[in-house]
Amino acid sequence: MNLSPILTLIAEALKIYLPAMVANATPVFLKQGKPLDLGAKFIDGKRVLGDGKTFEGLAIGLFFGTYSGIIETLVFKNLVFIRIGLIASIGALLGDVSGSFIKRRLGLKRGDPAPILDQLDFIYGATLLLYLIGVTVTLEKFIAIQVITLILHIVTNRIAYVLKLKPVPW
Ligand code: CTP
Ligand code: MG
Repeated sequence: MNLSPILTLIAEALKIYLPAMVANATPVFLKQGKPLDLGAKFIDGKRVLGDGKTFEGLAIGLFFGTYSGIIETLVFKNLVFIRIGLIASIGALLGDVSGSFIKRRLGLKRGDPAPILDQLDFIYGATLLLYLIGVTVTLEKFIAIQVITLILHIVTNRIAYVLKLKPVPW
């Protein structure tokens, strides 16, 4: 079996989605911040977003996501990554915020698991915003990045568990 088309697909998918992944991952290191919803409740009486979505988180994600796009611009000598870095980061963060909005409407508390939504909401947000500025991701890459993200999620959680950073391996 020739693996090179698969490896190329993985590399191409990671290239487009790196800023989104960085924007989504970096806010996690925050311990606390000012909630985006300022503590407000929605018409259903539950928090609009909850304490897990903060202004500081948005700022950190936007900074590091955009920064990774600038690095890609230099590495691949292609200015398009400046745009991808900025827009995909915003999209990823909006996707993550939308995911929390949905979780709260479903009655899930901050941090309660919502499999697939938790892991992939940022990809949908990034893909949508990239599409809106004319960067269309092929279906192949769109599917590839979701598979990669789910695998990365399982692997990083295992590592965090082994390093005793997390009490459970999932
Ligand atoms: N975080 C943040 N601001 C953001 C996104 C994330 O401060 N815009 C931080 C919060 O400390 C959050 C952590 O990163 O708890 C992990 O993010 P995530 O898993 O998306 O949030 P949850 O706490 O699981 O909350 P939710 O149930 O709303 O997804
Ligand atoms: Mg979560």
